[in-house]
Amino acid sequence: MSADDQKRLSGEAAAELVENGMVVGLGTGSTAAWFVKALAARKLDIRGVPTSDATANLARELGIALAALDDVKSVDLTVDGADEIGPGLSLIKGGGAALLREKLVWEASKRCVVIADAAKHVPLLGKFPLPIEVVRFGHVHTGQRLADIAAEFDLPPPRLRMADRGVVVTDGGNLIYDMASGRIEEPAALAAALKAVTGVVDHGLFLDLADEALLGTDGGIVRLTP
Ligand code: 5RP
Repeated sequence: MSADDQKRLSGEAAAELVENGMVVGLGTGSTAAWFVKALAARKLDIRGVPTSDATANLARELGIALAALDDVKSVDLTVDGADEIGPGLSLIKGGGAALLREKLVWEASKRCVVIADAAKHVPLLGKFPLPIEVVRFGHVHTGQRLADIAAEFDLPPPRLRMADRGVVVTDGGNLIYDMASGRIEEPAALAAALKAVTGVVDHGLFLDLADEALLGTDGGIVRLTP
């Protein structure tokens, strides 16, 4: 089974968790897109809170009613992908540059389910570079402060994310620095250090947020809990 088939499997399994009347957080990325498609096919009476402009566009095309985060009191269930799923369902997210809106929606949710192909499940976080979202103003200086923190954790300096057309800009107008590490031994300490830097909006470490994971594997869905 290809990774994409595994992603589809997990997205479809998560769509079965949704019930009529729910407010549903709609994640971002290729796995979350499978979820959104499977959810739309169920034609339930729900409202979706998208975590990115890309997801909002997809959901709208498929006929899912949308609400902004501030239009709802809370979100019943959020389903989203991840770049890595580590011990205790600690996550790296933000490969699609949507980490800030994702984290805001996750934190407003009663239940968060992460969906992914089997290869995303790792014994230790860090092989996937950790995305860090920073404001544009003074970002070179912020990047230097991030490099200092990286050195304290024995990690190489983070790099500004670029795409073919130039620097990557998030839906919120911010920039992304990626911290390639290989191993994140102390995710909570690193998360706290990054969050304390002026200019950092947020980072892609999602700790103590996921309630369960639905992994698509060749043998079917594997359910993980923290
Ligand atoms: C976007 C994310 C995505 O959920 C993450 O990058 C996984 O993407 P995919 O499902 O395409 O592998 O965090 O910011």
